[in-house]
Amino acid sequence: MNAGVVGIGRYLPNKVVTNFDLEKVMDTSDEWIRTRTGIEERRIAPDEIDTSDMAFEAAKNAIKNAGISAEEIDLILVATVTPDRPFPSISCMLQEKLGAKKAAAMDISAACAGFMYGIVTAKQFIETNVFKYILVVGVEKLSKVTDWNDRNTAVLFGDGAGAAIIGPVSGNRGILSFELGADGTGGKHLYQDEFIIMNGREVFKFAVRQMGESCIHVLEKAGLSKEEVDFFIPHQANIRIMEASRQRLEVPEEKMSKTVNKYGNTSSASIPISLVEELEAGKIKDDDVIVMVGFGGGLTWGAIAIRWGK
Ligand code: UT7
Repeated sequence: MNAGVVGIGRYLPNKVVTNFDLEKVMDTSDEWIRTRTGIEERRIAPDEIDTSDMAFEAAKNAIKNAGISAEEIDLILVATVTPDRPFPSISCMLQEKLGAKKAAAMDISAACAGFMYGIVTAKQFIETNVFKYILVVGVEKLSKVTDWNDRNTAVLFGDGAGAAIIGPVSGNRGILSFELGADGTGGKHLYQDEFIIMNGREVFKFAVRQMGESCIHVLEKAGLSKEEVDFFIPHQANIRIMEASRQRLEVPEEKMSKTVNKYGNTSSASIPISLVEELEAGKIKDDDVIVMVGFGGGLTWGAIAIRWGK
């Protein structure tokens, strides 16, 4: 039996902060941000909306979209590096808020690759027939760990949440292959003390190399050719990084998800937010082959190839 995505949902805060808004408070320009990153605006959550609140909204939408009840969820996995507090985990907070009484719950810390780690973990429990429905959420309130005096990082990030219900799917649909990896020697290039500290150039080089390679690896593992890829959803960090991996995969521009312009880098939430956006726009159909890939602090990476549909 294959595990696949049987429901999706997302949540984005209402407040839009444009590059022009940032120009007024720091030494930067719309021109620099757009040409170096592709970002035009991002969403920022107000003080009264914390990470767990955004996770709850996205999770509710995914449960509804899957047509199941919260009581049917066996496990909750929340990928985040910006929890409300160190513990209890966001997943335990969600378990209560959703009334998912029988669900086990834990958070995953794999930065921007967290949602991929969550999906792949969920797949194992479903394909071994241990669990039936698993809620995987990618959620970040990066604005609370952003140094608004550091233009190197402040212009990049945004807040938001995306969620998926992973469950059994029919026929040859579902997750076809995956790759997960980590390189702790690169941890020094992207980490949080009080705020996010980043060596942008090093992370850029790593991302371009690793995203491209992981995409090729999941295709090889699934026995697919590049031509068989119908849609590509890379982690939305920087349009130049995304373009480099798109070219490696040789998928045309219109087949790559691009939401970084509207939401900036939302870390673990970027892939599920994009997935919802593309489904709503009708760009993904049943039986399409989709490649998703993420990379992030750790350093971590993860990719999957999935044949869409229940
Ligand atoms: O999810 C994973 C998280 N991280 C990433 O994905 C980040 C990966 N890295 C990147 O996306 C890029 O490295 C950045 C967008 C962060 C930076 O782009 P870059 O082309 O690597 O620029 P750079 O760091 O080489 O900086 C070029 C110049 C510098 O000025 P000097 O030293 O050449 O005079 C910076 O001080 O741009 C300057 N700069 C800015 N200027 C205006 C850096 N940030 C800004 C800014 N506005 N916000």
